[in-house]
Amino acid sequence: MKYYIGIDLGTSAVKLILTDEKGEILQTVSKSYPLLQPQPHWSEQNPEDWWNAVCAGLTELTANIDKADVAGIGVGGQMHGLVMLDANDRVLRPAILWNDTRTGKETDYLNEEIGKGTLQSRTGNIAFAGFTAPKLLWVKAHEPEIFAACAKICLPKDYINYKLTGVFATDVSDASGTLYFDVAHRCWSKEMLDLLGISEAQLPRVYESADVIGKTALFGMHADVVAGAGDNAAAAIGTDTVRAGQCNISLGTSGTVFLPTDSYVETENPALHSFCHANGKWHLMGCILSAASCNMWLNERILQSDYKIEPAAPNDTLFFLPYLSGERCPHNDGDVRGAFLGLDHTTSREDLVLAVYEGVSFAIKDCIALCPQQIKTATVCGGGTKSKAWMQVLSDVLGIELRVIENEGPALGGALLAAGISVAPQVQRVITPNAESVARYEKKYQKFKQLYPLLRDFYRAE
Ligand code: XUL
Repeated sequence: MKYYIGIDLGTSAVKLILTDEKGEILQTVSKSYPLLQPQPHWSEQNPEDWWNAVCAGLTELTANIDKADVAGIGVGGQMHGLVMLDANDRVLRPAILWNDTRTGKETDYLNEEIGKGTLQSRTGNIAFAGFTAPKLLWVKAHEPEIFAACAKICLPKDYINYKLTGVFATDVSDASGTLYFDVAHRCWSKEMLDLLGISEAQLPRVYESADVIGKTALFGMHADVVAGAGDNAAAAIGTDTVRAGQCNISLGTSGTVFLPTDSYVETENPALHSFCHANGKWHLMGCILSAASCNMWLNERILQSDYKIEPAAPNDTLFFLPYLSGERCPHNDGDVRGAFLGLDHTTSREDLVLAVYEGVSFAIKDCIALCPQQIKTATVCGGGTKSKAWMQVLSDVLGIELRVIENEGPALGGALLAAGISVAPQVQRVITPNAESVARYEKKYQKFKQLYPLLRDFYRAE
């Protein structure tokens, strides 16, 4: 019997799965770690916390099997995070995460002074606050001693792979989100490295996602470790979203719309990311910074409800803007914040639950509106899929059929990359849109779209 391990290094926790050689999930383990938000706009984690959680997870996951039977490991991870190591491989500062928006100034400098066209021609993308390049500029300006002491720069899952194998590697899908990677040619962009003041010697070697980078002998295993992928590309492998024309929506801490493409596409609207896929091809992606995390915020922090409150009947007046960490796509605005609009004396907790489901769905629709192809059906994965009521709202807002996949998309993708196989996704439910609700939500969406332009200047930093 051969086993494979898939690891999803997420923002709230690391999820690990054990599969057999056919990709059947045999066991799942999850270990959480803290998210550090020491200042407004900051979002950080300690790479050592990730590693401790991975070690605890691996120990638990493999407790009842012969570890020598683990043939391969694949890691998918939260994208864009900046991990900096010194010459002795010590972590220099907490990792700056994908939803950290402290880099407004650096992002504006890249987009306006270097220019969006130049960035797009070098990397395939424009700058967003959460991408890695503006973070490097921020560290250079605010923590010059750390910038000077930095011997290695990598992404979150690459740190885990380095600890597992001792091999300093990355993969094309995750590297795509740095803004110093040439997506069209699948290699580092020399011009961007020069602009940032870093060298290729500080960066991991680039592999395709399914390439074996080395072996791990930890915990009694002798397993091959593949380069892995960014969590969205890994989720796309896990949901078998690998052919042009398909679409996967992920509702995790972030929300994403993922469209595979056969070749590199320079996007007309650069709010959509153009990245390498984990299958040797490319993809387009829209990303909102807060998705299932809005529902978590409302239920855990505000209502303290154990997710027991069912949404109210639809109304045309209450709106929620899901910008709890600012917004990436389509607004590229790290300063804007979330809001409820239309509260009155009759507003109930049930109304708030519905408004959050709708607001996140409208923000996903904002991403879909930028896609070059018409989307008629999509798979949906991630924590948000646990709510059946939300999936119906999402289907009605988007006006499309949804195939709900409740498994751990990115972790399964990691295991499948390691096993070198693809499997048809296990669809738990198919949700079809209700024609009456679709028409109603189309009207409400038109109103939702008016709200960000009204609030934008209110939140603009001094
Ligand atoms: C994608 C993005 C998020 C993170 C979440 O561009 O920033 O989806 O990868 O882990």
